[in-house]
Amino acid sequence: MDAELNAPDLSFDQVDPIYSGFIDDYLRLHGLDPARFCKPLPGQDEMFFKAILPNYEFDASISAFKFVESAIRLGEAYRQLVEGVFGGFDKVGPVLDFASGWGRLTRYLEQRLPTGQISVADIYHQAIDWQVSTFGVAGIFSDKDPAQLSYAGKHDIVLAGSMFSHLPAGLFHAWLGKLFSLVSTRGVLAFSVHDEAILPIGETMDASGIHFMRFSESGSLELDIYGMSYVTEAFVGRAIAELAPGLSWRRFPKGLYENQDLYVVGAPGVDLSGLALASVPMGGFETAASLSTGETEYAGWAIERTPGAAIEAAVVYVDGAQTLEVAPAGERPDVQRHFPGSANAPVGWRFRLAAKPGASVRVELRSSSGLKGHCYARAPEPAAFTYSGWSRRGLRT
Ligand SMILES: C[S@@+](CC[C@H](N)C(=O)[O-])C[C@H]1O[C@@H](n2cnc3c(N)ncnc32)[C@H](O)[C@@H]1O
Repeated sequence: MDAELNAPDLSFDQVDPIYSGFIDDYLRLHGLDPARFCKPLPGQDEMFFKAILPNYEFDASISAFKFVESAIRLGEAYRQLVEGVFGGFDKVGPVLDFASGWGRLTRYLEQRLPTGQISVADIYHQAIDWQVSTFGVAGIFSDKDPAQLSYAGKHDIVLAGSMFSHLPAGLFHAWLGKLFSLVSTRGVLAFSVHDEAILPIGETMDASGIHFMRFSESGSLELDIYGMSYVTEAFVGRAIAELAPGLSWRRFPKGLYENQDLYVVGAPGVDLSGLALASVPMGGFETAASLSTGETEYAGWAIERTPGAAIEAAVVYVDGAQTLEVAPAGERPDVQRHFPGSANAPVGWRFRLAAKPGASVRVELRSSSGLKGHCYARAPEPAAFTYSGWSRRGLRT
């Protein structure tokens, strides 16, 4: 099947140099080569052109940065899975990114694993062809009906990010069974869902524990096979119990993307009771106001979505040099609505700094989980100036 969308590709060369600088820095902080990562975004990629771009008022530069940020968050979840289950990327075997789209995760994975170990699958066959030719990974053409997918390879990790969050009940069960059959004897199946905690206002959960709504960002996938679904933990637990008796499984609230829960299911005998997986702290600049002292006062927000963890510090770097550290100050209930059902309240942060105009100001959000989030701004000219609050807006991917 092909996507109907056909926007021009977005080259990272088109990105405003300020944002390119942020992107390169962000990637290097995570040990990724920007030149390898920043392949053009194909014009048929609905996730970018129909979800991220409209969410950021069609600003290609901000959207490209948000794309990279979201890819790193995916990568950080993947890294924790690999380290927690297998002990590191050098100890994991073949992996499959199912419903890979146009390879947001592949851009990260191909810098962590030999491409011969990476397989990708999607119902959009052009997306698979593009990844095969661009990254050299193995491609699998999926189908709307799992019974029609004859592929039977085995993988240590089968990840389906933001696919089950769009499936009606029948396909949820059928795809769970199919993807579990692709897991090796030492492996895991990981998939993300929309929990009932983020059910849209006015909607009620069905007694079955899955509520399916007939709309999506896709312009071409039929609504019978791809809409928006919301599930209870009990529903997912029963679905997992049907796969095999006594499986070890875990739910990580907000474990993937901004608002999806990640479920991880072990192959028979694989014990996941010790697996820990935190969400990357999120946050952003909102204002940068010049003061009569010649300093600039910066303010923003942050949220730690991992249950039991907290943001401990906002550490400020100017042009890469650590400059000061502040504690989060005050809750931000106005931000909460972007993160419904989150375990922790959003917080604010604020600091003053005299930096030369144009300097790169990065705030590192340090969490007790051990993970770090990063947000960026440019030091403004010394005049009243308000930095936009764009980074607060949520993504629906
Ligand atoms: C929201 S996108 C997520 C893409 C990717 N996992 C990511 O995080 O960027 C959902 C993806 O599911 C794919 N999809 C939907 N139904 C599918 C099916 N039956 N088999 C394989 N992929 C499917 C869509 O084509 C789309 O690429």
